[in-house]
Amino acid sequence: MRRLEGRVALISGTARGLGRAAALRFAAEGALVVGGDLLHDEALETQREIGREGGTALTPGPLDVTCPESVEAWVGEAVEAFGGVDIVLTNAGSVRFGPLVEQSYDDYTSTVRSELDSVWLTTRAAWPHLARSRGCVVTIGSTAGITGSLTNHRTAHSAAKGGVIALTRQLAAEGAEHGIRANCVSPGLVDTEGSRGNLLADTHPPRDAARHIPLGRLGTPQDIAHVAAFLASEDASYVSGAHLVVDGGWSAVLPGPLT
Ligand SMILES: NC(=O)c1ccc[n+]([C@@H]2O[C@H](COP(=O)([O-])OP(=O)(O)OC[C@H]3O[C@@H](n4cnc5c(N)ncnc54)[C@H](O)[C@@H]3O)[C@@H](O)[C@H]2O)c1
Repeated sequence: MRRLEGRVALISGTARGLGRAAALRFAAEGALVVGGDLLHDEALETQREIGREGGTALTPGPLDVTCPESVEAWVGEAVEAFGGVDIVLTNAGSVRFGPLVEQSYDDYTSTVRSELDSVWLTTRAAWPHLARSRGCVVTIGSTAGITGSLTNHRTAHSAAKGGVIALTRQLAAEGAEHGIRANCVSPGLVDTEGSRGNLLADTHPPRDAARHIPLGRLGTPQDIAHVAAFLASEDASYVSGAHLVVDGGWSAVLPGPLT
């Protein structure tokens, strides 16, 4: 089924992890994918893979979602190449974890800029084009935006992702008059390059979190991409302002005994 045929989809963070999986999935659904990442060479490799699979993708240049000029230029390239924007998936971001009193203010602001300000900047830049196409926004939140953690020290990350969830609801409200839908997908623990560098590292307690996830495994990038593609598609044409947790049931249950 090609549910996104001919739709222009801006996806940030396409070099790795969820963004790469979403780029591949959206392209397989027929979307014209405009990717971008700080890691431009790896994002180009994603573009080439889409091409090998018969899809269409463009990766205009290195993208920094924390930089207004970079984001504006990225959106402009998409409009120039494909004539508009139908879908925005705000995925890219990086995080600095650490106990509250050990974090510097720079750790905090860097995380919030990367995970929350980036969503605002990207959505703002694409908004007039989304209004023209009656398009949609899919943001990537996190279960960190709705739960605390005993083992993962993440005040800045929790604040940023809680902000993404709230921002998405307001985008749904303000977008309604333009026919723009906005929804948030919050992954639980997903096996990616990013999580392998912190949460799933050998020294970190959640590395064996799968034992406590009702569905018995970590998430895959594809698990998240499937849901994002659904929300971006006409199958979700009456869904706006939703916050969809995709975590194998993890946040629905109390944790099992920690051994
Ligand atoms: N992996 C998880 O367990 C998990 C859980 C919940 C939420 N998330 C969220 O999913 C999203 C993707 O996470 P992931 O695990 O795939 O991460 P990842 O680190 O594997 O990939 C993130 C990608 O974003 C890019 N990126 C980072 N900062 C950028 C910037 N300023 N400009 C442009 N590109 C930038 C990176 O280069 C990388 O390619 C993030 O928003 C993350 O918070 C991930």
